[in-house]
Amino acid sequence: MCGIVAYTGANSALPVLISGLKRLEYRGYDSAGVSLLDDDGIVTVKTAGKVSDLEKELADLSEDIRLTSATCGIAHTRWATHGTPCTANAHPHSGCKGRFAIVHNGIIENYLALRQALEDQGHHFRSDTDSEVVAHLLEQAAGLDPNADSAALVKTILPKLQGSYALAILDRDSAGRVFCVCHDSPLVVAADGSMAASDLPALICAGVNEVVYLPDDQLVGLGRPLTGFTIKRIDTDLTEAEHSGFPDFMLKEIYEQPAVAKYAMRNDFSNLDLNTRDIRRVYVVACGTSYHAGLIGRDLIEKWAQLPVDARVASEFRYGNPYMDEHTLVIALTQSGETADTLEAAKLARSRGAKVLALTNVLGSRITQVADIVVNIQASLEIAVAATKSYVAQVIVLTKLALYLACARGLLTPAHLTNIEAQMALLPDQIQSLLDQRQTIEQVACQCLNAHTVLYIGRGVGATTCLEGALKLKEISYVHAEAFYAGEIKHGPIALIDPIGVTDKVKATPVIAVACAQATYDKMISNIEEVQARGAKVIAIASEGDEHIAELTPHVIYIPHTSECLMPVLAAIPMQLIARYIAVEHGQNVDQPRNLAKSVTVE
Ligand code: G6P
Repeated sequence: MCGIVAYTGANSALPVLISGLKRLEYRGYDSAGVSLLDDDGIVTVKTAGKVSDLEKELADLSEDIRLTSATCGIAHTRWATHGTPCTANAHPHSGCKGRFAIVHNGIIENYLALRQALEDQGHHFRSDTDSEVVAHLLEQAAGLDPNADSAALVKTILPKLQGSYALAILDRDSAGRVFCVCHDSPLVVAADGSMAASDLPALICAGVNEVVYLPDDQLVGLGRPLTGFTIKRIDTDLTEAEHSGFPDFMLKEIYEQPAVAKYAMRNDFSNLDLNTRDIRRVYVVACGTSYHAGLIGRDLIEKWAQLPVDARVASEFRYGNPYMDEHTLVIALTQSGETADTLEAAKLARSRGAKVLALTNVLGSRITQVADIVVNIQASLEIAVAATKSYVAQVIVLTKLALYLACARGLLTPAHLTNIEAQMALLPDQIQSLLDQRQTIEQVACQCLNAHTVLYIGRGVGATTCLEGALKLKEISYVHAEAFYAGEIKHGPIALIDPIGVTDKVKATPVIAVACAQATYDKMISNIEEVQARGAKVIAIASEGDEHIAELTPHVIYIPHTSECLMPVLAAIPMQLIARYIAVEHGQNVDQPRNLAKSVTVE
């Protein structure tokens, strides 16, 4: 949540900061700002809106030579938590005297009390943010100890802050330095001490290839090489952060899925210290799309490994009182490895003696520091806010895990395993064949254009796929969408179907029905007939060769034949393409949907 970039070095800081911010914009994009430090002090420019708006603002000020000559600065792109997205609330923030400028990610939970105390002492606040207290606290500390250097001042105020923070701080009295520190919110620092950022892409685009994932509560000052930390080489390819000819990252990432599927299925759990015979209960904890992948994992582990499995939304799990002991395996599923609720759920699990297995896409992320065992889902950098390829990778990795647990517990015959693995090996080509049908899929998706609501129905893994399909549509098109277990629609949701569809097929409520070859196929057909009888316009996702479905509805998307357990991977592809198509047709920015952010590092 929110993006931080800091730079100090021989070059003009502004271009480095701005190009870094652009790489981090997926983390938040409702306001942006930059502060530059030179011998004359700090100059700050900020604005509501995106980084491109900040660039316009800077272009208007291009005569200010300090903006281009300064070689030290901090920058921020924001996802508002406290206070509306306006210029005053944009970062960087300063105190009353302008000695310090700070950018902050996270939440200062006790900011109200701190602010009150500071205001009582005469400090004047200019924003509604929690972050501004940091700048005033620094100023207060400097007033109390005029001889203290910048690092000492930062260290003085940190114990006063409750909550989570990643901070980059400029001090007018420390030319050429940027002070960085974090607590429960990530910061990655270039090993040569030239840069820091809240995520790798900002560093990669500046050519940094050796980094330190800054441990909690360790203050570093940019401007000197880092010593005493574990240095990691980055092998992420810069092209991963480019559009590469696609109109948006989401489409690019959708098209990467054949390769992602190939990598994900290479995961092997046999080398991990899972103690499979010891496991008596499994939880899958996650948020958002990862939670939906977790639901599929739950069903497969339960079915094949015959273990009680519960999938829980991490924000509920962490505040519930879930039963856990040393025989419990908690699978923490998080693409970013940074989601605050999933991290806290994992910490809770460990404190109760459970073993935590993290499945993540970001090695070095915070979940990798919390978990006992880490598995890389290998989906490569995902930039679009709406998760696509990471979902497919998660589902495949969970399927492999379920197979592994079942085999280790002696519950799967070699023939069964061979059969599923053979079908799995076909997935990359099958995903590609669906991508090749994009135009056809988009023609079918036209049926949902301008709908007030789109309903999704399915059974078993088909229902879980619907949950993810509806989430994708909501996230990026802002069209109301809701997924239901098809067997449940007659217990309430069917009332949503407007009878107008009986007479007016154009205005009929669209219902996307997953009716692939499944044990419950016949029941699904009955459910389709039920909604059609009430006037719904059914868009069916069915298995290739299903002629019966074409008699029920003209709007059919066919997916290649696969085993029921792998169907969610293939059915996800048309769901993603439908959501993106509707969002684009409605004129939305699919990569940066309103109000959302890619990494939710606050509760
Ligand atoms: C945010 C993103 C979602 C994502 C969720 C969980 O809400 O917008 O796309 O599914 O966080 O993220 P994680 O990184 O933990 O998988």
